[in-house]
Amino acid sequence: MFDKNIYQKRRAGLLDKVDKGLILLLGNVDVAYNYKGNTYAHSRQDSSFLYYFGLQQAGLAALLDVESGAITLFGDDLTLEDVVWMGPHPSLAELASEVGVPQTATFAQLAPQLAKAKSAGRPIHFLPPYRYRNMLLLHQWMDIPVDDLSKKASIALVKAVVSQRSHKGPEEVAEMEKALAVTAEMHLSVMKGAKPGRTEAELAGLAEGIAASHGGYLSYPIILSINGHILHNHDHSNVLKAGDLLLGDFGAETASCYAGDITRTFPVGGTFSAQQKAIYEIVLHAEMSAIEACRPGIRYRDVHLQAARNMAEGLKGLGLMKGDLDDAVAQGAHALFFPHGLGHMIGLDVHDMEDLGEQYVGYTDSVHRSDQFGTAYLRLARELEPGFVFTVEPGIYFIPELIDQWRTEKKFEAFINYEAINPYRHFGGVRVEDNVLITESGYRVLGPPIPKQVEELETL
Ligand code: GLY
Ligand code: MN
Repeated sequence: MFDKNIYQKRRAGLLDKVDKGLILLLGNVDVAYNYKGNTYAHSRQDSSFLYYFGLQQAGLAALLDVESGAITLFGDDLTLEDVVWMGPHPSLAELASEVGVPQTATFAQLAPQLAKAKSAGRPIHFLPPYRYRNMLLLHQWMDIPVDDLSKKASIALVKAVVSQRSHKGPEEVAEMEKALAVTAEMHLSVMKGAKPGRTEAELAGLAEGIAASHGGYLSYPIILSINGHILHNHDHSNVLKAGDLLLGDFGAETASCYAGDITRTFPVGGTFSAQQKAIYEIVLHAEMSAIEACRPGIRYRDVHLQAARNMAEGLKGLGLMKGDLDDAVAQGAHALFFPHGLGHMIGLDVHDMEDLGEQYVGYTDSVHRSDQFGTAYLRLARELEPGFVFTVEPGIYFIPELIDQWRTEKKFEAFINYEAINPYRHFGGVRVEDNVLITESGYRVLGPPIPKQVEELETL
């Protein structure tokens, strides 16, 4: 938890940004695993609630009155029976005082306050819910069908929260550096442990254990696979063989819930084949050039397209692409190999604020989402500003199903040499990813360096 002044300043900033009415911020509760009393071991507070209140406890909510400036924290103290099973916990009043909130009330007092505001015709601003318990509460309180809650969420509140959370303060950057220090330890251990005969599951368990041993957890489910071409592959059932290309995309979340998100790809047994090395170096070059292009004012979509162009050029050098590459990228032919976006904001969420709507986080009134396959998946397209932290993660993948479909459709035959792709059919995928902060004059790559040059990886 940060100093209470930080939360007070953030809440004052939020109250300034919303015109009128009540702002309702809901915390999370623990989620049942297989029956009510057996919850997931890792509980997770809502990130916006955490941003404004810093409290990790389950079952909290807050109301901020835009007109009066009053802020109330709602929750319930533990009963004696709770204490028998769970031990003593700070009271609600103690929690509130730690983060500078003067007023508390029981959770049951929240519904009547909302009902009163509703009957007085005051707007009640709430964020799009993603947990079922909060959906049900909002449905009951606001009398809105569950399926319409996201549509009825307050755009004014979403925009206000996004404008604050998008610019990371030095205290947040310091937490992200900590997340990345743990993430580096996870990646180095996996690299050193990736020997023929070991399983993906053993290495995923090793990485998860390191994250947990630092008092936090994972910032998202581990992707660690010899089938790196399956973008969000959470299967860990393979045994590693010498020469397999292993893609590891995983990161730690600190105890304060700031995320790291790093990808490295390397050969099991320590030596790249000529084919692997050629593709790897194209991706690495695209990643490093994209990072170098980052500065305030540049549109991230332009950095994405630059990376796509760079990789298309490398693929043309290998004979896999052909023709005019500006046209190829403009038409989206590169997406056969690079079907995702270059990166996303990161902070309290690995895809930061994705629950609030990517159109408000990564896009603006003048920067709209493309509907072209590949670029449509870009989560961040807008102009970069100092304080933004985001990922840079180009990749090249050989996805047999996609290749077959495009080939059958004779898609982009002017730009893609389908015959030349055959020897790469079982290649898998390469992605390289780092986390970057925009400074006043340029960028800074966050976290300790994690090996990514071919020689470094082979030596390790
Ligand atoms: N780390 C997974 C992703 O960025 O989607
Ligand atoms: Mn990522």
